[in-house]
Amino acid sequence: MEKIAVRFPDKNFWNNKRVLVTGHTGFKGAWLTQWLTQLGAKVCGVSLDPITDPDLWTEMNMDMQGFDFRVDIRSDAWQRRVDTFKPEIAFHLAAQPLVVTGWKDPKLTFDTNLGGMVQFLSWINTSSSLSAGVLVTSDKVYRLDGKKTARIESDPLGGADPYSASKAASELIAQTWPMNPDKKVATARSGNVIGGGDWAEDRLIPDLIRAWRSPEKFTARNPNSIRPWQHVLEPLSGYILMAEDLFQRKIKVDAINFGPIIKDQVSVSEVVKEVQNKLQPPNSLRIDESPQELKYEESEFLLLDSTLAESELGWRSVLNWKESIDMTLSWYSDFYNGIPALKLVQRDIELFGQISKSR
Ligand SMILES: NC(=O)c1ccc[n+]([C@@H]2O[C@H](COP(=O)([O-])OP(=O)(O)OC[C@H]3O[C@@H](n4cnc5c(N)ncnc54)[C@H](O)[C@@H]3O)[C@@H](O)[C@H]2O)c1
Repeated sequence: MEKIAVRFPDKNFWNNKRVLVTGHTGFKGAWLTQWLTQLGAKVCGVSLDPITDPDLWTEMNMDMQGFDFRVDIRSDAWQRRVDTFKPEIAFHLAAQPLVVTGWKDPKLTFDTNLGGMVQFLSWINTSSSLSAGVLVTSDKVYRLDGKKTARIESDPLGGADPYSASKAASELIAQTWPMNPDKKVATARSGNVIGGGDWAEDRLIPDLIRAWRSPEKFTARNPNSIRPWQHVLEPLSGYILMAEDLFQRKIKVDAINFGPIIKDQVSVSEVVKEVQNKLQPPNSLRIDESPQELKYEESEFLLLDSTLAESELGWRSVLNWKESIDMTLSWYSDFYNGIPALKLVQRDIELFGQISKSR
C-alpha cells in the first residue's frame, strides 16, 4: 500500500463540540479529556473517583465547569444529568480494564464491562443531542488459537480470561444493539498502552516505575509475551479521528484496530531491558530474573493488524516502541522532578502532533 500522510485530529471540527467521555478519571480518559480540550471541545465526564495513588486525574486538576459526574455507569443516576450538557459525541471508556483483576473479581469485571456497555447504548438511543459514539473495547477481544498472525477485525471473537471475555461480549452487545438510525457507533480495539501518569496495579510500566522508586526488585509476570505496546496518544488519535468520521457519516465499518507497527510488537522482557537501560541513575531499577510461577493464564502472542484504520481513517502509528518508551520515561522523570502533570500531558500532546506532521 502506498504510504499516505498521517492524519491528525482537526481543530476546526472539534471547536466547541460537546463531548461526553466515560472513564474520564482513568489513565486514557484523562489524556483524552485534555486532548479534546486542547482541540477546543467542551467535555463532560462520567466516572468513579480515581483509585490509584498518585493519580493522573487528581494531579491534572482540570476544570470541568461542573460537568464532572462521579457516578456508577451501571446505574440510572447519570443519564438525566448528562442530558443537561447536550453531548453530540461520546467516547465510552469506563470499564474494569485489568486482566489480573478480572481473574480476582470476575463478577465486578463482567458487571462493569457488560452492564456499563448496556447502560451506555440504551442511553444513546434516548439522547436527543447525541449523534455518534466510539466504544472502546480491546485488542484482547480476539479468540486465541495459537496462530502467530496479526488479528484483523473480522477474526473470531473470544477471550480466555474474564477481562478479555467481557470485552469480547461487549463487542457482541454493540454489534447486536438495535441502534436508532440517527445514531452511529463503532468499536475501537487498541493494544497495551503506555504513557506518563499510569499508576494502575499489575501493568508493566507502572510496576517498573514503582520498582524504580523503591528498593524492591521488579518481577516480570510473563517475560516472553509479545504485546502490541503503543503510546497512549496513538490509539487516542485513532478514537478522535473515528469520532470525526462517525459524526460526519463517513465510516462504513463497525470495528477498527489501532495497533503499533507490526515489527514493533515486542516482548515484555525487551521492554523491561529498554526501561532498565534508560532510567536514571544507572542501576536504579533492579530486576528479579528468577523464573516465576504463572498464576494466571495469558496469551503469549497478540498482534493487531491496523490496515483498516489506515484505509478508512488515514490513521497510522507514529512512534516506534523505543520512542514511546522514551516519551513515557521522560514524563515520569519530569513529574518526579516537580513538573505539574497537566503541563507534561499538554507538552506530550504538542510533541506528538509535531512528530505526526513530520512523518
Ligand atoms: N490501558 C490499556 O492498555 C488498555 C488497552 C486496551 C483497552 N483499554 C480500555 O480502555 C479503557 C480505559 O482504560 P484505562 O487504562 O484508562 O483504565 P483506568 O482504570 O485507568 O480507567 C478506568 C475508568 O473507568 C471508570 N470506571 C470503572 N468502573 C466504573 C463504573 N462502574 N462506573 C463509572 N466509571 C467506572 C474509572 O473511574 C476510570 O475513570 C477501558 O475500557 C479499557 O478496557 C485499555
